Amino acid sequence: MIINLPVYMIALGALIMLASIIKYSRLFKFPLNLEDNKHRQISTIIKINFLMMIFFFIGYLSVAGMLLNNHHMTDLLTALIFLFGSLFVFSVIFIQIEVGEVINEIYSFHTVESLVNTIEAKDKYTKGHSKHVSNLCECIHEYLPKNKRKEINIHLLRYAGYLHDIGKIGISDTIINKNGPLNDEEWDAMKTHPEIGKNILESNLILNKLGDWIYCHHERIDGNGYYGIKGEDIPFESKIICLADCFSAITTDRVYHKGKSYNEAIEILKEVSGSQLDEELVAIFLKIPREKIEKCIP
Ligand SMILES: [Fe+2]
Ligand SMILES: [Fe+2]
Repeated sequence: MIINLPVYMIALGALIMLASIIKYSRLFKFPLNLEDNKHRQISTIIKINFLMMIFFFIGYLSVAGMLLNNHHMTDLLTALIFLFGSLFVFSVIFIQIEVGEVINEIYSFHTVESLVNTIEAKDKYTKGHSKHVSNLCECIHEYLPKNKRKEINIHLLRYAGYLHDIGKIGISDTIINKNGPLNDEEWDAMKTHPEIGKNILESNLILNKLGDWIYCHHERIDGNGYYGIKGEDIPFESKIICLADCFSAITTDRVYHKGKSYNEAIEILKEVSGSQLDEELVAIFLKIPREKIEKCIP
């Protein structure tokens, strides 16, 4: 029994290592809310660590097999090193996953959701608009050409769609809920909401990356948008948000108009393609099945 102790310890170490491998594989599914090159670096490290753990696991089994045939006093020491090594790996992985989950929770969609609820509480007509835009952005992203799709972080795009009107928090309720056309002064105030949104997000470690996209969500391809930015100077993500925002605004009831049908909205999008909206994106939007678009309604 005593003679076999090192073998048992190595076998226990192998089991712990196997548990670590299984637990670690969860990291592959983590939606890391990081910029693309950081995301790539961390994904590579995760893959290397995973391969190293499999290598160790095979090592444990091999050493246990060798000890079965050849027993020495130093075997106990070797076995102890292996056993504590596997315990160390397991605890490091446990901490890594727990920390990852906490970070994800902090920047999770639910946190963003509660932030957005505060703007939507101001305006009963736009209830659900932010989620609708976010869902539409995700849907458009799915139909982008492969190379474009890879360039855009879908998690950040969803957040941006959700937060695009966050700046309305700084606009007076009487302007937002005005039952009729806005006068010049009120329009000037309304046009500041993308800039206010960018300023709100600036202090947030992760969400500040969305500032420029949100700043440009009312820009037009022809340069006749809120701040006169045009064509290629508008971030591609802002063009997606703009298209989703337009479709949502056209098809849902607002204080100043009744929501139009899907077919009417498609005709309007075609009319403004190339002037207000990006031509390529409108063409992609037209290829998305109607049922998919309708499922985006929250
Ligand atoms: Fe807006
Ligand atoms: Fe909007």
